[in-house]
Amino acid sequence: MPRARAKSPNSPGKIDCLELTSHSPDETQQLGRRIGELAMPGDIFLLVGSLGAGKTCLTQGIAWGLDIKEYTLSPSFVLIRELRGRLPLYHIDLYRLDRIEEIADLGLDDYLYGNGVCVIEWAEKGLSILPPEHLLIQISYLDDTERLFQLKPSGRRYLEMVNKLKPLAFTNQKGGSR
Ligand SMILES: Nc1ncnc2c1ncn2[C@@H]1O[C@H](COP(=O)(O)OP(=O)(O)OP(=O)(O)O)[C@@H](O)[C@H]1O
Ligand SMILES: [Mg+2]
Repeated sequence: MPRARAKSPNSPGKIDCLELTSHSPDETQQLGRRIGELAMPGDIFLLVGSLGAGKTCLTQGIAWGLDIKEYTLSPSFVLIRELRGRLPLYHIDLYRLDRIEEIADLGLDDYLYGNGVCVIEWAEKGLSILPPEHLLIQISYLDDTERLFQLKPSGRRYLEMVNKLKPLAFTNQKGGSR
């Protein structure tokens, strides 16, 4: 698994940001799979990161964690893709949209407030109109194969989730935890 590090400058015992370094697409998918396994109806995962950061790669893992067998191709041409698994996965990609009105016009509420799991790529484009409770996943390019994942929970549900991901993230890690 990727290396994990919890940052909680404000309140001891509470995680403001969980940082993980992935060293390969496989590790990113493993992280996604764990997120998918922990996902509950109504969960919202906002993915932020530049072109090729690994948003779709992570989403593939989330899909597998939800028992979705199909390969999750980038939905860039399709704004919203629905995949069926343990829970429905709504894979949304805002890349092609520039104005907030266009995003509002998508009518995402049925997805966001439904019983499925929403994963939104390029979520920063719609942040002002997306639900305030979510798990923000920021992905930064470190080098060809390394990516920094910063998991920032907003709301109790996501704080709980990140707390569960922390020990999971350390599991199977070569050389133990840091
Ligand atoms: N540690 C890593 N995690 C994820 N992807 C990685 C990693 N190392 C290399 N890669 C490569 O980076 C690319 C990530 O592509 P991906 O489609 O997931 O990015 P994306 O963020 O969805 O991009 P886009 O903005 O175009 O949708 C893939 O080619 C993958 O093989
Ligand atoms: Mg993508």
